[in-house]
Amino acid sequence: MAICNCFRKFLNFCFKYSLVLGVVGIAIIFAPSVNFLLDIEPKSLTVPLPNSLRQFETNKVQWKSFENVASITGPDSIVYDAKTHQLITGSEDGYLYSVDVNDDRKFKKLFKLVNDELMARFQYKRRPRPIGLRFDSKGRLFVCEPMFGIFKVENVFTDKPKIELIFDIEKTSQLGQTSVFFDDLLVEEKQSGGHVIYVTDVSRKFSFQYVMTAILSSDSDGRILRYDTDTGKLDIIMSNLFFPNSMEMLPDNNGFLLTETGNRTVWKYTFNDQEARVLMTALPGEPDNIRFSLNGKTFWMALLRPRTKNNPLLIDHMMSLPKLRKLLVRSFDLIGIVFDRLHRITSISKLQCLSKQFRSMEILNKVKDDFATGGGMLIEIDSNGRIIRTVYQTEGTALAWPTEAREIPSKNPDERLLYIGSFRPGYPIRKIILNK
Ligand SMILES: *[C@@H]1O[C@H](CO)[C@@H](O)[C@H](O)[C@H]1NC(C)=O
Repeated sequence: MAICNCFRKFLNFCFKYSLVLGVVGIAIIFAPSVNFLLDIEPKSLTVPLPNSLRQFETNKVQWKSFENVASITGPDSIVYDAKTHQLITGSEDGYLYSVDVNDDRKFKKLFKLVNDELMARFQYKRRPRPIGLRFDSKGRLFVCEPMFGIFKVENVFTDKPKIELIFDIEKTSQLGQTSVFFDDLLVEEKQSGGHVIYVTDVSRKFSFQYVMTAILSSDSDGRILRYDTDTGKLDIIMSNLFFPNSMEMLPDNNGFLLTETGNRTVWKYTFNDQEARVLMTALPGEPDNIRFSLNGKTFWMALLRPRTKNNPLLIDHMMSLPKLRKLLVRSFDLIGIVFDRLHRITSISKLQCLSKQFRSMEILNKVKDDFATGGGMLIEIDSNGRIIRTVYQTEGTALAWPTEAREIPSKNPDERLLYIGSFRPGYPIRKIILNK
């Protein structure tokens, strides 16, 4: 009753002051960006959803078995070391973890990459959160720290790992504005022992806590950067990307595949002609990490909830309403600022939490749990974009919020074994077994 009354009062209030609210709304949309209004210009997303999922299906879409294993928080990217049978992943808490595949419900906390000195350099305002991971052929581990840069770790399985920041994100200042969000990396080994690192540079405005804001504001300044650790040379390989997310080398090493998340598109870049071509577009979900499958010739790609033109999500409707998105992003940011000021006055920690949830727009996921939750898709493709194998669910939690599929050798020759990671807390590492 009380809630009902309260709601009626709220509606009454909105009705009475609708003119005022309308004027405020219009002002927020059209106001120039001053320091308390974000400088954004959202655009309509032109990439459509597919008419049906049939074109993405292969004759086998089911798995043989599914299991939740190590319950690490936010195991985004997963690498596998065949010698020690260990998986390594990075967690929401900033630590790397290892998992023995022979006992994969257990896990071991390893270490953080970002030391105190580096934390102090940014007044402890930047958060460590290891995401994209790679081993090179000599067992050196490369890790993307989205707000700090690329780290190299030697002797990762020993008590004395050697950790080094080999590509500092602050170096991007020589290209203009400094980046704040690296997502994934590729590593090319040089004769000299040095490396060429390719990085998906998502944004100069929004870091990884603001993924939702970056998408809703059509931040399309994403780039692919190349950094040579011997010479320190840094250059831009691709630009104007709407959330470039993840890369994998082509089997012949003459380029890479790239997922553009904001755009549901996959690109193929070739080094010899420096040409980027659209390999796949109008995908049924946002593609995240892309990694070689076990054969080293095909690729596994993880996609958010698959959907079609006929049953879009709230986010799809919103992507065609740029003005509404501008209003939402700016209003949520303003509300967040207000909560932050209130927190400073009262030091009630709940207010700071609310401030973050508004500014990052995560609150939307709390209100209406359908932005992308439930369902997920794993697609195996070859380097020409041909679909080899698909596993998907349009609902349910089994495949929800997948960020990476890592295939490792299975003891059974008739089966394929995949570990699935997720950026989102609440989803453990998942293990899927497929029939060959
Ligand atoms: C989105 O993807 C298409 C391919 O479908 C591409 O041509 C276009 O440039 C992309 N747009 C942005 C803003 O990145």
